[in-house]
Amino acid sequence: MRIAVTGSRGQVARALAERAAGCGAEVVPLGRPRLDLAEPATILPAFESAAPDIIVNAGAYTAVDKAESEEALAQRINGFGAGNVADAGNRLGVPVIQFSTDYVFDGNFERPYRECDTPRPINAYGRSKLAGEQAVQKATRKHVILRTAWVYSPFGTNFVRTILRLGDAQDHIRVVADQFGQPSSALDIADAVLAICSHLKAHPDENRLFGIFHMAGASDTSWADFAAAICAEAERHGRPRVGITPIATDRYPTAARRPMNTRLDTGKLHESYGVSLPSWRDSLPAVVARLLQSG
Ligand SMILES: NC(=O)c1ccc[n+]([C@@H]2O[C@H](COP(=O)([O-])OP(=O)(O)OC[C@H]3O[C@@H](n4cnc5c(N)ncnc54)[C@H](OP(=O)(O)O)[C@@H]3O)[C@@H](O)[C@H]2O)c1
Repeated sequence: MRIAVTGSRGQVARALAERAAGCGAEVVPLGRPRLDLAEPATILPAFESAAPDIIVNAGAYTAVDKAESEEALAQRINGFGAGNVADAGNRLGVPVIQFSTDYVFDGNFERPYRECDTPRPINAYGRSKLAGEQAVQKATRKHVILRTAWVYSPFGTNFVRTILRLGDAQDHIRVVADQFGQPSSALDIADAVLAICSHLKAHPDENRLFGIFHMAGASDTSWADFAAAICAEAERHGRPRVGITPIATDRYPTAARRPMNTRLDTGKLHESYGVSLPSWRDSLPAVVARLLQSG
């Protein structure tokens, strides 16, 4: 099975390349400049030459704060770009897996969000990802939109790497304690995507396999508790103790507003595919170990 993956240097794309090697799938990474989501003319030719069985659009404009001042570019990449990827999938007759985000929601719910809840993004990044969902839905019936959250991995920039770096220089770190979500390891996401690809290959016309699905780590937490767990794990590897000072969101101003509670109900993914991600508590130690090893 050949899986073409956009955003080749991103966390999810690199995790997919690593995990596919162990299960007989072939990942064809398509990064810039060969495939630039902001350059429509590059998209179809890149997929035509990759000749995939399935397309995974993991590339995205992911700079949440910068998107506030670059909303047009975020829309071009995450909105139109995603639509063009899905259009290419439709022309080639292959399913398209599109990544989206918990940030399509406003975060005001008490309970976890379900796929049928109305998205109401409160920042430019969320608006651009919602535009991407809508463009993909319009371009191809054979879409699987995976809303994930709080992605971390041994690759690229992410919260775990940032906390380990800050912990090298400080013995206390102030971290927001009133935003809640589900940390999701890109390696777990990759395993889940590979399982989804196998189902899609085996049952290409099964309607219940298409649509929007929530896919995030099995347990929720706050950024502060997540940071405390990261520091505890680093301490187990001989790093000095680092204290976490919990603070409220309004004590940590950012360009983009963040939704307060984006817990996702992942039951539909489990019912349709038999797939669910493990808890971040089980997956975090291996990622911290790799990040500490790689310096
Ligand atoms: N990270 C999170 O916490 C999170 C949470 C929820 C949902 N998601 C979604 O999950 C997906 C994967 O996220 P991730 O964490 O793997 O993202 P990431 O590590 O930030 O990687 C994004 C990738 O997209 C590429 N990219 C940016 N602009 C592009 C363009 N114009 N054309 C082609 N590629 C472009 C980047 O390329 P360069 O390496 O060249 O810059 C990078 O490789 C994204 O759709 C994201 O929106 C992420």
